[in-house]
Amino acid sequence: MLVPSPWRADFPAIAALQRQDQTYLDNAATTQKPQALIDALTHYYANGAANVHRAQHLPGAHATQAFEDSRSKVAQWLNAGDIGQIVFTHGTTSALNLLAYGLEHQFNPGDELVISALEHHANLLPWQQLAQRRDLKLVVLPLDAAGLIDLEAAAQLIGPRTRLLAVSQLSNVLGAWQPLPQLLAMAKARQALTVVDGAQGVVHGRHDVQALGCDFYVFSSHKLYGPDGLGVLYGRNAALQGLRHWQFGGEMVQDAEYQHATFRPAPLGYEAGTPPIASVIGLGATLDYLAGLDQDAVAAHEAALHDYLLHGLQARKGIRLLGAPQLALASFVVDGVHNADLAHLLTEQGIAVRAGHHCAMPLLKRFGLAGAIRVSLALYNDSADLERFFEALDQALEMLR
Ligand SMILES: Cc1ncc(COP(=O)(O)O)c(C=O)c1O
Repeated sequence: MLVPSPWRADFPAIAALQRQDQTYLDNAATTQKPQALIDALTHYYANGAANVHRAQHLPGAHATQAFEDSRSKVAQWLNAGDIGQIVFTHGTTSALNLLAYGLEHQFNPGDELVISALEHHANLLPWQQLAQRRDLKLVVLPLDAAGLIDLEAAAQLIGPRTRLLAVSQLSNVLGAWQPLPQLLAMAKARQALTVVDGAQGVVHGRHDVQALGCDFYVFSSHKLYGPDGLGVLYGRNAALQGLRHWQFGGEMVQDAEYQHATFRPAPLGYEAGTPPIASVIGLGATLDYLAGLDQDAVAAHEAALHDYLLHGLQARKGIRLLGAPQLALASFVVDGVHNADLAHLLTEQGIAVRAGHHCAMPLLKRFGLAGAIRVSLALYNDSADLERFFEALDQALEMLR
């Protein structure tokens, strides 16, 4: 069965990569960009760059307008209650570090922070370091056989001392939606704060943060076909109001004396210094592009392509999948073959996939592995990309076995 992508031509880098004999299947790391984004960046830089929120002049007014328009587009994309709930950061990592610092004063020694065994380092290390600084307990929810956070164990571990739950929506290693509604309900029953790492989840389908009911939701623009150097922190109003300011400088201040200052509330109070203006404007253009696509067609395409990937992997002897991937990606190891050797031979044949620990070392260790190969898909991939991958995989395995 062929799975063509009707959106392939919207991403000029795919054709450019093909001219370099490269097949790009590392989309969970970062994505290629639509022409709509490239045009928006060119337009901004070609027509007059200016700083935002500070200048009286016309270029400054244009830049500020475009910047704030993008904030409303992000708010709409997530169905946030109002645009003041959208804080721009430099990525998921910086948003999670902001939270771990900004919430620190709310915790007391002995309080418990709950994460899961599958978290990316970005949603592990900020909490781990916070726990060490404040003498808190970091509780790690185990996984079931399918690679989902174990709800029975969670019901035991989310308890009266739980002050915060921070979990990933879609694992970047296992490709499985996590049972967020149940987990968030357990945390809320304990009046704990809830943080959702949407770095992978936001890329697939539309997500309604109000329906989800989390306190905070974070993602990176570059994984959602947008520019890099930019992330989003959504927060419910009450949750945002409980944050301590974290970076100090221009634009975040209300009033300053030499010995004292007061600070603005969210969002600007958490966006110290010149923000990544072009990237914010570019993300707005990317969301316009994505909003114009037939969402059902995108979902059907992603599902068909993922099936194609899974069937191809399962048809080959000695391949062991990690967990039970549902969409977007699959990570695997091959019996008797070192993943670095396999990755090397795939790279030599122009296949761009990821090998290693995928920034989730403790998870890989739980599988008894130092690394795995990950193939991750985007809406511009098609079955021909996967055929090239399978051909290269067969050749590599023939050499290695
Ligand atoms: C689940 C998850 N969380 C967090 C991150 C960190 O994102 P960034 O490097 O864009 O800050 C990633 C990136 O791979 C991820 O997959």
